[in-house]
Amino acid sequence: MSAAEDTREVVFHIRRYDPDRDGAPTWKSYRVPVTPGMTVLEGLHFVKENLDASLAWRFSCRMGVCGSCAMLINGKAALACNTQIQDVSDKALTLAPLPNYEIVKDLVPDLAPMFEHHKSLKPWLVREDTGEILNPTGEYRQTPEELEAYIQFANCIKCGACLAACPTVATDPGYPGPMALAQCYRFCIDSRDGGLEERRDVLDSAHGLYGCHYAGECSRVCPKGVDPARAIQLMKRELVFSYLKLIRRKGASELLTGPAPGAERRSEIPEPPAFTVERSSGKSE
Ligand code: FES
Repeated sequence: MSAAEDTREVVFHIRRYDPDRDGAPTWKSYRVPVTPGMTVLEGLHFVKENLDASLAWRFSCRMGVCGSCAMLINGKAALACNTQIQDVSDKALTLAPLPNYEIVKDLVPDLAPMFEHHKSLKPWLVREDTGEILNPTGEYRQTPEELEAYIQFANCIKCGACLAACPTVATDPGYPGPMALAQCYRFCIDSRDGGLEERRDVLDSAHGLYGCHYAGECSRVCPKGVDPARAIQLMKRELVFSYLKLIRRKGASELLTGPAPGAERRSEIPEPPAFTVERSSGKSE
């Protein structure tokens, strides 16, 4: 079959909106010649180069790594560069910007609030030995099991698709969202990190971790299989265990009002159950 015989036409219905000029979003349709294997991102390039140069979207790597090109494809959050047109459409498809974000223009969402939430949860290794970090004399070693505990969650590309699917984000702008919370867990569970206490205020705030009621939509749309919903439930468990340890160490009444009368009551509080994954001896708790 020749290339011409292999080509068919698919109509791209695209939501257009320029907040500086338009009163409300509108839909525009473009006829795109599609060949087997062509991605939605390549279709958008065809539109911009041949039909409408004013169309705006975001992309960079074209290979599902940078996280720039997430959008609603036929109503589901997905990466345009990672979606073949033949897999999502026969004759037509719809493209719209990710919901739950302000729109910069057309298919470009403003991801700045997502990254602000991300930063508030300190997505880096928090340690007390800052001298060693600034002037390293060795390596922070991990066992394969310690790596296994967080590596799935480290695959996040920060595309923002999970926030677009999250019902809590849709109703509470103060909620950090699946990406930030999953990345918080990724670091809290890292055997080299000791930063849970520094993240506790945000996690435990009125808009924090417990805003998640486990709809699971974030994991359904995640293009990298990160499973943020699972990470959030594990983060809840981690937070509860950290409280149990704190209570055992200080006593519940001391935590609330001051020193507890008698240390013997503290020994009545059982140790929390063992974690599935062993921590390294270097982990501060
Ligand atoms: Fe980088 Fe799509 S362009 S993930």
